Amino acid sequence: MILQRRNFLNLGELQRQMELSGLNDRLDNVQRFSQIYLLRRLALKEVGTKLENLDDEYSALHFHNPIHHMEERMKNPASLLEKIERKGYGMTIDSIQENVFDIAGIRVVTNYIDDIHRVEDALVNQDDITVVKRKDYITKPKSNGYRSLHLVVSVPVFLAEGAQTAPVEIQIRTIGMDMWASLEHKLRYKNHIDPDKAQKYAGQLKDTARQLNQIEASMQGIYQDLL
Ligand code: GTP
Ligand code: MG
Repeated sequence: MILQRRNFLNLGELQRQMELSGLNDRLDNVQRFSQIYLLRRLALKEVGTKLENLDDEYSALHFHNPIHHMEERMKNPASLLEKIERKGYGMTIDSIQENVFDIAGIRVVTNYIDDIHRVEDALVNQDDITVVKRKDYITKPKSNGYRSLHLVVSVPVFLAEGAQTAPVEIQIRTIGMDMWASLEHKLRYKNHIDPDKAQKYAGQLKDTARQLNQIEASMQGIYQDLL
């Protein structure tokens, strides 16, 4: 199941955002910008379908679904413009093409820890997939306790005029890791308002990340024994 947090690019909205941020004359061409969005969105659909197919195949052959669910999202133009400013990238179409890989994103929530690498291997072994970036926050969790495997893959999209490739960001994590990340995200957001709470819960949250990992590992053990 893919939950679609659909956010189709609305050109009117994009122009308004660009004007609001005073960037309208720095971005050379709204049309090229929307072309990038289109390509990234189609690449996202390709990757989503590949992952659904892999899950179907695994389920048919091994009676197990590695994927619990997936969520797709397109970065909205306002956050894209904010990111370009924050990271100090050039405000040009070429710079967006070269630097921003997470306009199209898919989160793959797996049932068990082992499924993360099962999904990764099966995807990146496909001939038309190229891994552009890989960050393994599972082998090496972040200092706050965050765990996930982040990939950026590039995939071809077949357009009327021929094939073009585009990058898609993939976050692969278990249900427990996903649950943890949602809470931590909420806390971090709230902490802008109340820094005392940040202090209060940071250590506790890190500890829950470790506990969740232990629980998921033992549940995986039980499940495998029952298979
Ligand atoms: P950004 O995309 O600007 O964040 O840069 P990056 O490519 O350096 O980031 P990274 O690959 O580390 O993380 C990308 C995404 O992973 C973020 O946008 C979040 O969705 C998620 N993420 C990373 N670190 C954390 C974290 O500590 N907590 C939570 N809840 N999510 C995180
Ligand atoms: Mg990001």
